[in-house]
Amino acid sequence: MKVAVFASGNGSNFEAIAKSDELRRAGLEIELLVCDQPNAHVIERAAKYQIPVFINKLSDYSNRGAYEQAIIEKLKPLKLEYILLAGYMRVVTPVLLAAYPGRIINIHPSLLPKFSGLEAIPRAYESGDEVTGVTIHYIDEGVDTGPVIKQCKVVRLENDTEESLESRIHQTEHQMYRQVILDLLINRKK
Ligand code: GAR
Repeated sequence: MKVAVFASGNGSNFEAIAKSDELRRAGLEIELLVCDQPNAHVIERAAKYQIPVFINKLSDYSNRGAYEQAIIEKLKPLKLEYILLAGYMRVVTPVLLAAYPGRIINIHPSLLPKFSGLEAIPRAYESGDEVTGVTIHYIDEGVDTGPVIKQCKVVRLENDTEESLESRIHQTEHQMYRQVILDLLINRKK
């Protein structure tokens, strides 16, 4: 199952997927990392796993449609089944959605629809909610909207700092993303 991963920053979710022997054995092939930030740490992580990187800056284009069209041209020959967004901090436009209908998956660090958009973890922490979590979903044209694939709760502990809560949310994300991808791999073999 050929996929591209899109990321903008640190890339811990990307690495959780890239380093998984279980996913590789089950047939996952990460053909490309698409990154919109030339200095992002995720680029170094991709090098570690010999995964090619396409760095594509929005500022090089006159509009978001043209920016995504360049991505589509790059992806076309790869014959991808899915695009996995893993900390990709851009809203996908109808241009890319039309090229991969129902095949773009996103991970978000909250129980959507709560805390959609940027800074979800600090906002959840500051809200004092006793339970937050992680959502993996197919995307549509909205910000962190679209059909939910899986949601998991993360309980806020009494002594949690924002950092300790964030760390558990990331651990949950890494396990969940691997499981969702494994389910996709298993279901397509049926
Ligand atoms: C993750 O928590 C991911 O859920 C979030 O960005 C972080 C990236 O971390 N994505 C969004 O907020 C999308 N709206 P990573 O670069 O270490 O994987």
